[in-house]
Amino acid sequence: MRTINLPPYAPTLIESTRAIGYSLDTAIADIIDNSITAQASVVNIEFFPIGQPYISILDNGLGMTGDELNIAMQYGSKNPIEEREPDDLGRFGLGLKTASLSQCRRLTVVSLKNGELSGRMWDIDYVLQTGEWSLIILENDEIEQLPQYNELIKNEKGTLVVCSIKD
Ligand SMILES: Nc1ncnc2c1ncn2[C@@H]1O[C@H](COP(=O)(O)OP(=O)(O)O)[C@@H](O)[C@H]1O
Ligand SMILES: [Mg+2]
Repeated sequence: MRTINLPPYAPTLIESTRAIGYSLDTAIADIIDNSITAQASVVNIEFFPIGQPYISILDNGLGMTGDELNIAMQYGSKNPIEEREPDDLGRFGLGLKTASLSQCRRLTVVSLKNGELSGRMWDIDYVLQTGEWSLIILENDEIEQLPQYNELIKNEKGTLVVCSIKD
């Protein structure tokens, strides 16, 4: 059998999946659903509507290591036929990405687990520019600039999702 590897073209898929039909509230609900599945007891949401607007959502759940965060940021990170926890409304392994990017062009996720701090970013314009699934790895000094960073460190574990228009 002859095959060719034919992955989806990143710029088209990233643009089309953000148009799936989220509203602001259903998008935020999908992000909070992930926090609940990660056993968070507190989810803090900040809206900053002026200048360089953003929405930041911080939870005190289990957090993710760098490797886990890479998988979380991948489109189709979990197979829809895999078994799920009863409180997990996620299904397609897309929610974090498509919900956030339906509201903004840049998704930053920072997570803290076992003392490991990791940050990753999807920037739609960068994906359009490279034509590849180019996930940006944040350096510590960039992570420290993010809203609610100090609270994340104080909690010692958790995940921070920031949807921003542009910096
Ligand atoms: N706030 C969070 N805390 C810990 N892990 C998370 C969080 N958000 C997402 N994840 C991880 O990323 C994965 C992908 O999330 P998502 O794109 O919403 O797809 P789904 O919820 O369908 O699995 C989740 O299955 C989970 O493992
Ligand atoms: Mg989800």
